[in-house]
Amino acid sequence: MFQNKVVIVTGAAQGIGKAVAVGYAKEGAKVVLADLNDELGRAVCSEIVSEGYSSIFVQTDVRKENDVVSLMKSAIHQYGKIDILINNAGIFRPISPYDITMDLWDDVIHTNLRSVFMCSREAAKFMRLNEKGGAIVSMASTRAFMSEPHTESYAATKGGIVALTHALASSLGPDNIRVNCISPGWIETKDYDALRPIDHEQHFSRRVGKPSDIVRACFYLTDDRNDFVTGINLTVDGGMTKKMIYEE
Ligand code: NAI
Repeated sequence: MFQNKVVIVTGAAQGIGKAVAVGYAKEGAKVVLADLNDELGRAVCSEIVSEGYSSIFVQTDVRKENDVVSLMKSAIHQYGKIDILINNAGIFRPISPYDITMDLWDDVIHTNLRSVFMCSREAAKFMRLNEKGGAIVSMASTRAFMSEPHTESYAATKGGIVALTHALASSLGPDNIRVNCISPGWIETKDYDALRPIDHEQHFSRRVGKPSDIVRACFYLTDDRNDFVTGINLTVDGGMTKKMIYEE
């Protein structure tokens, strides 16, 4: 489905990002993996290449502008173009609003939100040179819309991503670049078999989400045939944000 497309995935060393990177590779894309974690990033790259697909790993700290610029240059150097960017890298640091230091606040904002703007801008500089433009997808979260206590920094970044998405869709539309985001609900990236019945049953869908649910959402939003879809947030949460809860 993505034969010869060049796809950059940030935070690709594990979890959702890894599944997305492997998913695109299996669909024929050339995949550029970016992550802070050198060891895990290289391992994912070797795994993809050993299965006969095309991939490079570029160690990247998405908080750093120089790293982001180098990431795009490496992609161009290796593959000659950039078609798709998946802004997936993110951190979650729950802590009381009374206790969070402003250094930690800034770190979460820089890792989750500032990075999405920088990566999108730097990738768009190359995407706009393509005949068919490009597509950008960023991982927001259902926490952009609802909260548990002590999650201010994360919620602020994810809400920011939803707003940044429609702003960028508006600015980059003339360059044929579509910009969308996904709000995953509970996506189990570690031990799915260890989940309890109640974990599954509280969802309208009767199950907890899997990385593959997000992979297919990325495919939908980056498929050239869906070029009427831009500026949206696609919630993939088994219905949890539509569930009305009254305590008894
Ligand atoms: P994860 O923690 O398993 O993986 C995140 C990856 O990002 C790691 O490989 C990490 O090394 C990398 N990373 C962190 N800081 C970085 C930096 N400064 N530069 C480059 N790479 C960096 O996360 P998971 O669960 O796979 O989530 C992926 C994305 O989806 C995140 O943006 C997260 O907020 C979002 N999300 C996840 C949900 C879930 O239930 N797993 C729910 C809603 C949103």
